[in-house]
Amino acid sequence: MKKSLEEHASRFDEVAGEYDDSQNDTEEYRAAVSLVVDHANPHESDTVADLGTGTGAIALALAEDAEKVIGRDISEGMMERAREKATEQGIENVEFGEGRFREPNVEEADIVVSNFAMHHLSDEEKREAIEAIAELGPRKFVLGDVMFFGEPNPDEPFYSPEVDDPSTVGHLADVMTEAGFALTAVERVHEQVGVLVAERGESTEA
Ligand SMILES: C[S@@+](CC[C@H](N)C(=O)[O-])C[C@H]1O[C@@H](n2cnc3c(N)ncnc32)[C@H](O)[C@@H]1O
Repeated sequence: MKKSLEEHASRFDEVAGEYDDSQNDTEEYRAAVSLVVDHANPHESDTVADLGTGTGAIALALAEDAEKVIGRDISEGMMERAREKATEQGIENVEFGEGRFREPNVEEADIVVSNFAMHHLSDEEKREAIEAIAELGPRKFVLGDVMFFGEPNPDEPFYSPEVDDPSTVGHLADVMTEAGFALTAVERVHEQVGVLVAERGESTEA
């Protein structure tokens, strides 16, 4: 991680008010949100955990179809905006609270999702995060993020080398497989943006 957790949290606290408008301007972000939501496709009895939930774009979109959605993040400012949106939309089965990728503060989940957040972690930290996700016992993990399908190009718009640390699709696929998942879909949104779907045969206890 190129910045500390505290630095990432305060960076997102500062932009929480404008975050939704700025992100929604980006076609690739909208495409990733839509693909993560479609692939998550929860059953009505499912508990879904959204890690790096931010202002709740994914968590709130999935709440209608799931029994419960747990949003976790390190930025209280981003989650405060997510809670406001839940209230405005009359969504009651979603809960937002402190949690990190490597310590999600979630007991178990049927489905884990994450969008545009894990790229702050280094390759090794992503490995630890995906191992922690596997321990929650999900049957499916859907990851939308900045990731490299080809050679990394720091001049491209999807990451800032000073704060972001995206991995290659190959690294993410290896780590998912080693954590006991099978990669069942790879959606390439852009040379540097993708959605990966990792599944296991059945839910296991955490
Ligand atoms: C670009 S936003 C994405 C938010 C949301 N998932 C979306 O699709 O709009 C990234 C979020 O990841 C959070 N984040 C960064 N590092 C994290 C970590 N180690 N654990 C949990 N959340 C983290 C940030 O606070 C921020 O809210």
